[in-house]
Amino acid sequence: MAEPAPWWKSAVVYQVYPRSFADSDGDGVGDLEGIRRHLDHLQWLGVDALWLSPFFRSPMADFGYDVADYCDVDPIFGTLEDFGRLVQEAHSRNLKVLIDWVPNHTSDQHPWFVASRSSRDDPKRDWYVWVDGTPDRPPNNWKAAFSQTEPAWTWDEATGQWYLHLFLAEQPDLNWRNPEVVAAMHDTLRFWLHRGVDGFRMDVIHALAKHPDLPDVDDPWLDTGRLDEPATHELIRGFRRLLDSYPGDRVSVGEVFILSTAKVAEYYGDDDELHLAFNFPPLFAPWDAAKWRKRVDRVAEEFEPRDAWPTWVLSNHDNPRHRTRYGGSEARARAAAVLLLTLRGTPFLYEGEELGLEDADVPKARQVDPGGRDGTRAPIPWDASPGHGWPGDPWLPWPPEPDVRNVESERANPASILHLYRRLLTARRASPALQLGAWRAIESPHGVLAYERAVDGDNGDRRVVVVNFTDQPHVVDLSGNWTVEVASDGAGEGEPYAGSIGADQAVLLSR
Ligand code: GLC
Repeated sequence: MAEPAPWWKSAVVYQVYPRSFADSDGDGVGDLEGIRRHLDHLQWLGVDALWLSPFFRSPMADFGYDVADYCDVDPIFGTLEDFGRLVQEAHSRNLKVLIDWVPNHTSDQHPWFVASRSSRDDPKRDWYVWVDGTPDRPPNNWKAAFSQTEPAWTWDEATGQWYLHLFLAEQPDLNWRNPEVVAAMHDTLRFWLHRGVDGFRMDVIHALAKHPDLPDVDDPWLDTGRLDEPATHELIRGFRRLLDSYPGDRVSVGEVFILSTAKVAEYYGDDDELHLAFNFPPLFAPWDAAKWRKRVDRVAEEFEPRDAWPTWVLSNHDNPRHRTRYGGSEARARAAAVLLLTLRGTPFLYEGEELGLEDADVPKARQVDPGGRDGTRAPIPWDASPGHGWPGDPWLPWPPEPDVRNVESERANPASILHLYRRLLTARRASPALQLGAWRAIESPHGVLAYERAVDGDNGDRRVVVVNFTDQPHVVDLSGNWTVEVASDGAGEGEPYAGSIGADQAVLLSR
């Protein structure tokens, strides 16, 4: 018998952005204890794993993606004991826990950088990327993310050299060509593996090693020289060996922010690099059947020959929510949920998408993120009361319509989008075809994407999915008799499929 697939292949992962999920102490910022108290929601929903965005000690210049201590919890989020309780309780509910590892850069307040900056002779000087020069001319043309116009370099007056930061000046890049850095960062992985985490989302993983010559580049996001160095693949093989030396299928999922599916596939290596990688071109595709077909085909072409397992993501803490991107229609957001949860690969949900949330409109005076991402990070409304289940005023304004788009109200309403997500997750869990089966396109009219998911040929488990990307109904003929298992609008579930699909509708069919 073939070995059973590792858990993360059939899992659905739910991203928690801790600041905005649930607050237990009334300071307006979510925390680990808040997450623990709301595990019920996630278990009821039916996801398999949580990925927690950073909760480590941080001055919060980039809201936690600037880490000052990889091995401690920031007091705003709680304590290591709170983390222990959260993991224990998640595990007792059969929920895996992934944490967010930020290896490309530290905070400028990390003791390593404080030491490195203190003198050219400090033993940690070479832990970061320091370059000679003159204060009037940065070493090359690399630009810092977020601004895209400011140099990725800051001149350090006291020691007379430039240091590199692909993001904010408060986020100096580590020098991954230094073996001491590699060893110290491996220790941070071990620290959390010993505390029972089931894996890591690895931040900006494609950028760890820099070209030794630090050359000028044409396109700061895609050019090698700045990103995607061969040495980075070697580093990832080291992380993989470390994770695989622990029992229990610990997983790595890399943020490979390169908008080329072929390049992303390379980060799986020969099954010796990342277990999973985010592939962002679909996230940036418009809501259009032909464009999505192309994205799905590209993944199949690049991933299948390597036996690489795909991931799918529509929303996260860095981009406007997909409901907002797709024009705000709830019908479309529902159809998108059917798509996301029935493609071949591991889906990642972003907190609140199960409520059909849109981005908050954040007035200028309340904007806080240097990357302009506040809207997608609005707090989760838990109930219909004025405080929506938050004991104090949250750090960001509410997303639209929190009086109806909240967990309590939607849970009480079987017709809500929340219940749709739950029905899809239930259907997925019961179907080997949806979890692990092959994907095959079915001929369908322009504007519609139809496909089959199947295991073991014609006699095994099979499902058919029809997604209408347009606001017109379409006739979609299918051979055989099919039953509507889940419909994005709830219509006709349990009844025979009648051969057509409604405007902005999507259906999951079974035999
Ligand atoms: C990743 C994170 C983003 C963060 C950046 C720098 O892209 O997802 O939130 O700002 O890395 O760490």
